[in-house]
Amino acid sequence: MKTYKIAVLPGDGIGKEVMPPALAVLNAVGEICNIGFSYSEYDWSCETYLATGSMMPADGMDRLSQHDAILLGAVGYPTVPDHISLWGMLIPIRRDFDQYVNLRPVRLLPGIRCPLADRRPGDIDFWIVRENTEGEYSRIGGRFAEGTDAEGVVQTAVFTRHGTDRIIRYAFELAQKLGRPHVSSATKSNGLFHSMPFWDERFEKMAAQYPATRTDSHHIDILAARFVLSPEYFDVVVGSNLFGDILSDLGPGVTGTIAVAPSANINPEGRYPSMFEPVHGSAPDIAGRNIANPVGQIWAAAMMLDHLGEAEAGRLVLRAIETALADPAVPRTPDIGGTASTAEFGAAIAAALHKIR
Ligand code: NAI
Ligand code: MG
Repeated sequence: MKTYKIAVLPGDGIGKEVMPPALAVLNAVGEICNIGFSYSEYDWSCETYLATGSMMPADGMDRLSQHDAILLGAVGYPTVPDHISLWGMLIPIRRDFDQYVNLRPVRLLPGIRCPLADRRPGDIDFWIVRENTEGEYSRIGGRFAEGTDAEGVVQTAVFTRHGTDRIIRYAFELAQKLGRPHVSSATKSNGLFHSMPFWDERFEKMAAQYPATRTDSHHIDILAARFVLSPEYFDVVVGSNLFGDILSDLGPGVTGTIAVAPSANINPEGRYPSMFEPVHGSAPDIAGRNIANPVGQIWAAAMMLDHLGEAEAGRLVLRAIETALADPAVPRTPDIGGTASTAEFGAAIAAALHKIR
C-alpha cells in the first residue's frame, strides 16, 4: 500500500471546521482504493501570530517541505491584518515552493442553483490556469512626492519568458490530458503596451507547438462578459496573475457559490510539495457555528489525490460530492438551502462514497 505524507493546515475560522470532514473522506477513499495517508497537523494560524508574533515557526517551510502535499483550510481572521496573515504564510508557501500554477475548476454541480438562466450541470465545465508567481503582483515600484499635490505611485509588472512560457505550456498540456484540445488566452494587448503584446507573442509561439489544439485570445473585458454569456464555450483558460485571479472568482461565481470551489497551487515538476485549498476564506461571519459547507475543502482533497497520481480516487471523491448534491434527500448546509451541520453534510458525502464504489 502506498502511503502519502500530508501536511494539514486547518488555519483559521471555518478552516478548522471543514478540515475534519475532508480528512474523513480522504480516509474513506483511502480504504476503498488501498491508499494510506500519514498526516502532520500544524495549527499555524492568526492565533499563532497573536501568541508568538509570527504565523508559523522559523522552521515551518522546512517541515512542510518534507511532505508529499499540503492541504490547507483558510488563513486570515479579523484579529490580525490580512496582509500580515497572507504574507506570513500563504504567499511564502506559494512562492518559496515555486507553485507557479494556480488551477481552478469551474463546474456547475447538481443541486446548486445557477445564477445564469437555463444552465444545467454539464453545461459549465472548464478550467482556469492562473500564473501564480510573477506578473502584475510584484513589489517593484514606489511612491514619489509623498504628501504633496504631485504625489504619485509606480507599480511595475514583471513578465519573463521563463514564467510566461511555463504557465502557457501547462495550459496546453492540461487541455491535451483532458482530451479537450482548446485553450483560450486572457489578454489586454490593446491597452497594456508592453506586457500583453509579449504575452500574446509567447502564447502564439506555444500554440505553434500544439497544432492539434484550437486556440483563441480574448481581451479581459470581453472575456469577463463571455464567462457570463457563454460559459459553455470554454475548456481551458490561461491568464496572468491578476487576470487569472479575477477570472477564478468570476468562474465559481457563475456556477452559484464559491463555498464549493477548490483551488490547487501546483509545482508541476514536483520539486516542492503542492498545496490544495478551498477558494473560500475563513468566513468569520459564520465561524464557530458548524454550518460551513465542506464541499470546497473536500473537492480540494480530490484535486490533491489527482496531483499525487491517484486519479481514480480523485474521481471517486468528486462523484461522491455530485451524488450527494444530486439527491434531494441528502442533508446539506444552509448556504445551499439545507439545515444540516458541516459534520452531517460531510458524513453524507463519505456515505455516498461507499455507495458508488
Ligand atoms: P470568505 O470566503 O471567508 O467569506 C465570504 C462569504 O462567503 C461570507 O459571507 C461567508 O460566510 C461565505 N462563505 C465562505 N465560505 C463558506 C462556506 N464554506 N460555507 C458557507 N458559506 C461560506 O471571504 P472574506 O469574508 O472576504 O474573508 C474572510 C477572511 O478569510 C479574511 O481574513 C481573508 O483574508 C481570508 N481569506 C483567506 C483565503 C485563503 O486562505 N486562501 C481566501 C479568501 C479569504
Ligand atoms: Mg482571489
